[in-house]
Amino acid sequence: MGLFITFEGIEGSGKTTQIRMAGGYLKKKDVPCVLTGEPGGTPVGTELRKILLDKTSLVLSCRTELLLFAADRAQHVEEVIEPSLEKGEVVLCDRFSDATVAYQGYGRKQDIKPIRAICDFASRSLTPDMTLLFDISADKGLDRVIDRARRMGNVPLEDRFEKEHLRFHETIRNGYLALAEENPDRFKIIDASRDVDTVHQEVRIHLEGLIERQGYAVQ
Ligand code: TMP
Repeated sequence: MGLFITFEGIEGSGKTTQIRMAGGYLKKKDVPCVLTGEPGGTPVGTELRKILLDKTSLVLSCRTELLLFAADRAQHVEEVIEPSLEKGEVVLCDRFSDATVAYQGYGRKQDIKPIRAICDFASRSLTPDMTLLFDISADKGLDRVIDRARRMGNVPLEDRFEKEHLRFHETIRNGYLALAEENPDRFKIIDASRDVDTVHQEVRIHLEGLIERQGYAVQ
């Protein structure tokens, strides 16, 4: 069996840059790895992502949103994550079930208990071996999102979640921190307000520790 490592955080936490850097690092070390993410890690997921992030035309009820994220996850686990783990690969995944608890539970203020049950069903109870939580204040995170959007000429903001107000993102951050407190062995909280390279160094330390304990030959 391989290793399943998830990258989590609010918008602007830099986790997507970090997952790319982590993947590059593992490849350089000849560790077999796969980079993937949700929503959208499969062809079906790509279609679901378009619906989920559409900022204009679609009105999604909270329960529909939750079930679409769960559908994306069910497909992703079956088509990508489980087969990769069975091949002994390290799977680096940009968001997983913790995102659903943080966003649809804490963010949208829906009952957490059924959300956990739905995530469990969708993921066939797959739990990450390690979750890296890129922690940053919501105002700093959103400043970064706005800066990035300006640089790319995309103001006003891109998607339904980025358009949400500051309080929504603060609640999600608190949700993630509560999840980390509940699962201290699995979660590593990383201060994501620092520069990209410093954050990457800390990611490397966590990755190295885990993959060496798992018996991968690190070059
Ligand atoms: P991304 O920007 O990290 O690709 O994620 C897209 C958005 O989807 C992001 O705003 C977080 C949100 N999301 C949820 O609300 N619930 C989920 O279960 C997942 C995986 C993502």
